[in-house]
Amino acid sequence: MTISISQLHPVFAGEVSGADLTKPLSREDVAAIEAGMDKYAVLVFHDQKLTDDQQMAFTRNLGEIENATGNNITKPQERRLPVGMNDVSNLDQNNKPLARDDRRRMFNLGNQLWHSDSSFRAVPAKYSLLSARTVATRGGNTEFADMRAAYDALDDQTKAEIEDLICEHSLLYSRGLLGFTDLTEEERAMFKPVRQRFVRTHPVTKRKSLYLSSHIGTIVGQPMPEARALVRDLAEHATQPQFVYVHKWRQYDLVIWDNRQTMHRVRRFDETQPRDMRRTTVAGDAPTAEQAAA
Ligand code: OGA
Ligand code: MN
Repeated sequence: MTISISQLHPVFAGEVSGADLTKPLSREDVAAIEAGMDKYAVLVFHDQKLTDDQQMAFTRNLGEIENATGNNITKPQERRLPVGMNDVSNLDQNNKPLARDDRRRMFNLGNQLWHSDSSFRAVPAKYSLLSARTVATRGGNTEFADMRAAYDALDDQTKAEIEDLICEHSLLYSRGLLGFTDLTEEERAMFKPVRQRFVRTHPVTKRKSLYLSSHIGTIVGQPMPEARALVRDLAEHATQPQFVYVHKWRQYDLVIWDNRQTMHRVRRFDETQPRDMRRTTVAGDAPTAEQAAA
């Protein structure tokens, strides 16, 4: 198999051809995909009709699968997908669209806010792999923003100001932005804030990026309103069209993104119809900041 990649957007994102992800890959192919991820930060593969097992097997080529617990309010008995898969669909365990007032649906609406996956974990995610099994009938594009290009475009004074800042991230903050505060004590404990650097350096390319996410609620050492005003200002900067690739899904697309270098969000869609999207996540290898004492 010979993989080739063509760039989709002026600053990032690539479309891969010559890959069949349902089959085992050679070391060369895996290396080409990893090099593509380092360079493009988002890779699009079309026509990958994957089973859950094939998706998980392909994901393991890129690293360990993140333990998909502690990131949602879905109860174990409500799970639709096997352990190792994140359900980002709008469906219940019987493959029916969730009711408008279902807590799980309201919680998942948080994916419409710009974020980086698992930035609310002490060791945040490396890659996410999203497979489109059933696409939305209307809306439901996923947008990606290049946090390296956004960082590069900052003025030197801002770069110096934020270089050593540490943010606190939690699902309580992103859901709080939507007014979803109906959480049990147990859920609140599960979503305890974690600390992350505001500026990250990619381990291979050494490029710096803004580590932004709607999960950010404050910055260590700053009054909360000041922190939130700064985060909001930089998020507006970072999500201008020149940094954003809009992905319009086709059935059986697989899109991989690097959460260390990008943010993403899904746009509104017709939720009376099924949108079946299944994610596997490659775990990160280390925290980005020292955590607060318990
Ligand atoms: C995700 C996510 C967006 C989408 O899978 O992490 O945010 O398009 N999904 O469903
Ligand atoms: Mn996400």
